[in-house]
Order: sequence, then C-alpha cells, then structure tokens
Amino acid sequence: MIDVPFDRETIQRLIDELEIDMTRGTIREMNLLVNAAEKEFNTRFVRMEFGVPGLEASQLAARAEAQMLIEEGVSNTYPPFQGTPELKQAGSDFCKAFMDLDIPAECVIPTVGSMQGCFIAVGLAGFHNPEKDTILFLDPGFPVNKLQTKFYGLESISMDLKDFRGSDLIREVDRLCTEHAVGGCMWSSPNNPAWIVLSEDELRGLAEVFDRHGVIAIEDMAYFGMDFREDYSVPFEPPFQPTIARYTDRVFIILSSSKLFSYAGQRCGLTLIPPGFAQQRYPALRDRFTKGRILDAFIHGGIYPLTSGVSQGSQKGLATLLRAAVDRTYNPWLEVREYQRRAGFMKRQFQENGFYLVYDKDCEKPLADGFYFTIAYPGMNGSELVKELIHYGISAITLKVTGSTKEGLRACVSLFAQDQFEDLAHRLKRFHEDHPIQVPAVAASGS
Ligand SMILES: Cc1ncc(COP(=O)(O)O)c(C=O)c1O
Repeated sequence: MIDVPFDRETIQRLIDELEIDMTRGTIREMNLLVNAAEKEFNTRFVRMEFGVPGLEASQLAARAEAQMLIEEGVSNTYPPFQGTPELKQAGSDFCKAFMDLDIPAECVIPTVGSMQGCFIAVGLAGFHNPEKDTILFLDPGFPVNKLQTKFYGLESISMDLKDFRGSDLIREVDRLCTEHAVGGCMWSSPNNPAWIVLSEDELRGLAEVFDRHGVIAIEDMAYFGMDFREDYSVPFEPPFQPTIARYTDRVFIILSSSKLFSYAGQRCGLTLIPPGFAQQRYPALRDRFTKGRILDAFIHGGIYPLTSGVSQGSQKGLATLLRAAVDRTYNPWLEVREYQRRAGFMKRQFQENGFYLVYDKDCEKPLADGFYFTIAYPGMNGSELVKELIHYGISAITLKVTGSTKEGLRACVSLFAQDQFEDLAHRLKRFHEDHPIQVPAVAASGS
C-alpha cells in the first residue's frame, strides 16, 4: 500500500478539479475529495468527516418492518399524520423509562428523521411571537440546523460553550435574550461535536431564563443516553438522561433513532412535547402553520405539508426497538459503547502525536469518549490542518463549520474500523515527525 504523505501535486490537482474550497472544508466537500483521493491512491482513508452510524441495525427492527409490510399490506395507505398509536405509546413509555418524564402518547410525534422534528421546532419557535424571530444556538453544533433557520428566513445568533459554562452560561444566555429578539434556543446534549452534556444546574438556570424571556427550548437528543460516564440503560431506575423538561414545559425534545439504534436509513425520529406546552396557543402561528395550538401546529402545519406522515414500516421498526429497550430484551447502549472504545483509542493516538483536544472539559469534569471529539495541532488553523491531514490519509471537518469560534477539527469515530488501528497510529506518527512542534523559547529554557 502507498505510504503517507501522498503526493502533494496530485492532491492539489484533485482539489482544483473538484473546485473544492479548503477554507470551508464542509462535510460534502471533504467527502468528494476523499472519495477521489481513495481512488487515485488506491488506499483507504481514516474517515472522520461523516457523522453516520458505523454499526449494524438490529434485526429486530428489520424483521418487524418486513413482517408488517408483507402480512398487513399497509403500503397502499397513508400513515396517520400524528403517528401510529403503537409508536406513540412506545415513545411515551421510553420517555418514562429513561427520562422519568410523563409525556402522554398524544404528545409524542413521529417525524421523518429527527431532522424533520428539528425543522418544525425551529419554525414554531421562530414564528410563535412576531417580535422574536431569532434562534440562539449553543455552539458548536450540527451545521444543518442553521440551514433550517436560513430556509425559514429567520435570524440566528450563536455562543460558544467553550467560553461559557455553569453560571457564566446562564448569565450570557440571559444577556443574549435581553439584547436580541430570541424566540428559541437550540442545543444538542450530548453535544455534536464536543460531547458536552449540560448539567442539571445549567438546565435549571436556562429554564428560568427562557421562561422569563418567553423563549422556547429545542433540546436535541440525537445521541440519547450516550454520555458513557453514566449508565442510563436501566429502565425506570436512575440515573436518567438529563433534560430541561424537568425545569420547564416550553420545550421540544428531539429524539433520533439514527445513532442509538443505527436506524438512520429508515428516517424515523420522535418529537416529544410536554402536555402543558402542547396545549398552549400562539395566535401568530395560525398564519404559517394554520393552527395556533402548539400540538396542532406541529402536526397539521408541519408534518402534514412537509411529508404527510412517516412511513408505517419504519414506525413499526422504531416502535419495536423502543419497546424492547423498555422491556429489557434489547440494550442499544451496550452496542453503541463500541464508539466509546474507538474514541478512547483515537484520542490517545492523536494526543501522543502532538494534537490536543479543543473542547477538553465538561465544566470541570473530563468529557466522555463518544461519537465525536475535537482536535487541533499547534501552529495550524482548522483549514490548514484539515488540508494537511488529507496528505496523511485522514479526513475530518473544520470546527468553523460547526459554529465554533475555535480553531480545530471535528472528528467522528463511527467509520473507524478495527483493521485501521495500525494505519492511524502510523499516519499520525509520520504527521508528527513531518510537523515538529515549535516549543516557545520561554518554555524551552525551562523558566
Ligand atoms: C445533533 C444532531 N441532531 C440531529 C441529527 C439528525 O438525525 P436524524 O438522522 O435522526 O435526522 C444529527 C445527525 O447527525 C445530529 O448530529
């Protein structure tokens, strides 16, 4: 196999041919470049640019789906817009078992991926009050959510969680909500890409600020329970996944099946709306979402015009997985702990070769090893680093793409395979040898 670094002229030719702007280094662009480079050099990259599941989906779901489609012949009927009763009830029970929250089945709404739930929630938060058309993002975050805000023509502002945690976070959010027309605030927990989890104190403080300013929270739990410092996998027993819904009603909780259940291809997620909030009416929503009551606006003004529901096969599959988790016949967290193992190895390799973690702490605690981590190399900004690593057969995206104000890269562990451990170690060693770190004169003199 060809050794690293790859020929620089060839890489530059590929960049020029594909018209890739390396200063942006978006997921799509990196993907194009890496596909081309893998072909050109006949080699496999250590691919860290994609946030896609790297594990097999459970056969439980596939069998339940197939059986339903064959035996019940539902393919010719539209699904109920509000979701199938079976999935709504399974979602409600899952929520009780693993969050200790009472959300009735009526307020559990299947969506086409959690992405659709995010999209509708952003719209409702951004239009519920004509004087509050701004979404505040607790960054770094999932880049697509900002595209959703743009799609609606809403404003967005952002703050970086690296700079504000604990009481500083509450104060800063309070300041931003005072100075800007914030209608909604969105974050993911565990966070894509820093793997930060907001603490109970932070959630309590944020809830108080949001209630005071009339801000709707959008709590994206795409990586539900995947903070592996805790074991959230025992139903009906603490610890429970932290949620702001313990402190305020005004929240859309977004659940994804893509990562926890590796069920991304079937595009089925859930949005949970606490019942008090589900019944709230906002007359301003009638214009765009046809209904003023939050639950109706979500279903009839959001789900219906976008996709007219979610395929019944995938709802059956997800209902089966949730039910099995609640009944303790299937533990998805045992499977996704594979990501923890991969992250542990990869982080160690990077750190032994001169890299450092950009987001390195969760308040004062070490972060869990999870689906993503963030890295930087002394003396290089994010776009320089992402481009340089390409020559060493390693791909990632810049933190800039995620809304971070820090220099560095987002690394996703999901596609890292067992047979690439040696490759990664070798490539990083070469990278480190070829890019000696300049030790500042003061430090070098030991004073
Ligand atoms: C934070 C976050 N939210 C939402 C999503 C979208 O998930 P889904 O596949 O359920 O639409 C992702 C996917 O990577 C994500 O990282």
